[in-house]
Amino acid sequence: MIPAIRGTHDILPGEIERWQQAEQVVRDICGRYGYREIRTPVIEREELFAKGTGETTDIVQKEMYAFEDKGGERVTLRPEATPSMVRAFVEHALEQHLPTVKIFSLGPMFRYERPQKGRYRQFHQLDVEVFGVSDAALDAEVIEMAAGLVEALGIEDAEVVVNSVGCAECRPVFGRALVTALGDREADLCGDCRRRAAVNPLRIFDCKVPSCQPIVDALPHATNYLCDACRSHFDATTGLLEALGVAFRVSHRLVRGLDYYTRTTFEILGGRLGAQNALLGGGRYDGLVRRLGGPDRAGIGFAAGMERLVLAMPDGSGPRAPGAVIVAPGGAAPPPARVHARIYYGDRSMKAQMRRANRTSARHVLILGDEEIARGSVTIKDMTSGGETLVGWDDVVRKLTGDPIPAPPEQPTGSRRLRVRDTA
Ligand code: HAM
Repeated sequence: MIPAIRGTHDILPGEIERWQQAEQVVRDICGRYGYREIRTPVIEREELFAKGTGETTDIVQKEMYAFEDKGGERVTLRPEATPSMVRAFVEHALEQHLPTVKIFSLGPMFRYERPQKGRYRQFHQLDVEVFGVSDAALDAEVIEMAAGLVEALGIEDAEVVVNSVGCAECRPVFGRALVTALGDREADLCGDCRRRAAVNPLRIFDCKVPSCQPIVDALPHATNYLCDACRSHFDATTGLLEALGVAFRVSHRLVRGLDYYTRTTFEILGGRLGAQNALLGGGRYDGLVRRLGGPDRAGIGFAAGMERLVLAMPDGSGPRAPGAVIVAPGGAAPPPARVHARIYYGDRSMKAQMRRANRTSARHVLILGDEEIARGSVTIKDMTSGGETLVGWDDVVRKLTGDPIPAPPEQPTGSRRLRVRDTA
């Protein structure tokens, strides 16, 4: 056996239903907020992420699956989607085709990280981006949408965390204030932090090494160094979040590990996820489109780890999936393929087929016994309510997509109809 590569995984039947359910919620919410789907290649020029994600980030320095292709070009599997979304925005001049460029994408990303629960080398992201709007109302809308997504998935104990990392004007001032505040204590920091202090002092807030924590905790806060424009943007964003009823916490340590952020940064943390607890993260990146060769347009978005969303979704009875299972005696002619239904071939008893059908997540079971076959009809059992109804084949589609079938007044244990057939 040649096993799957470390940090990658198969998503098998039994688990895939939770993914499909999550993806359905994602598409529904993206649609409601006016986002259009796009799909970009999983392989891009390495340069896109060196310039986009940033040369000083761990992603670019340590984690990219980058290599030279057979034509001698430096390429990489994408470690994140934002630079690709920006590239597509610029390359296809999307602003000329869409009234507001609000786009989303779902797909695999690749980072050579140390795998653990919630952290993989191939993982999937929902990525959401908006271009060309600098208004703080959009920052609040994007955060509200992210919080709404987590809520719609039934994830409890999630916490919205926000911060502002300022802009190209005020951030260098804050960076210098950090270095000054560190003073002699810089020598007590871990090797990574000493390197960060020289290259990108804000990144020190990302450090998880215990001995660095007392030093990091005593450092000044970014929000005290914002220029007037960034200050009023941050105040407007947090004010609107309050008005929208989104509960959040401001954390000065939320600087995010990518280089492009300006002003608003945010994450949603899942209470029950363990060490890898960021369900999603994002922020504003107003200089990135221009840096990647496009016009001077604002940008904001977030990405959610689909594995983490699926992990955090509550267990058990999600809504049953649309679709049906057909239970029919062995040898029965397959029914007309007008409905999305699967059938168990072979000679299993109706009862055994019913048990199998019950283990699937299908919303309906279509019972096609001798009586039904003789009458050109079918019994539909609604697996949520337990209700049954007999309909002609022509009505099956309408009935399956219509109102739920009401539960019978009192439910005997086991199904009368099936018991009768089983002994027949
Ligand atoms: P990120 O924080 O690097 O941001 O990733 C976003 C989310 O992807 C994380 O919160 C986490 O849920 C998931 N994730 C990241 N790495 C892994 C991994 N190795 N295994 C499993 N899940 C992972 C970005 O990628 C930015 N592009 C977000 C963004 C969009 N900012 C603006 N627009």
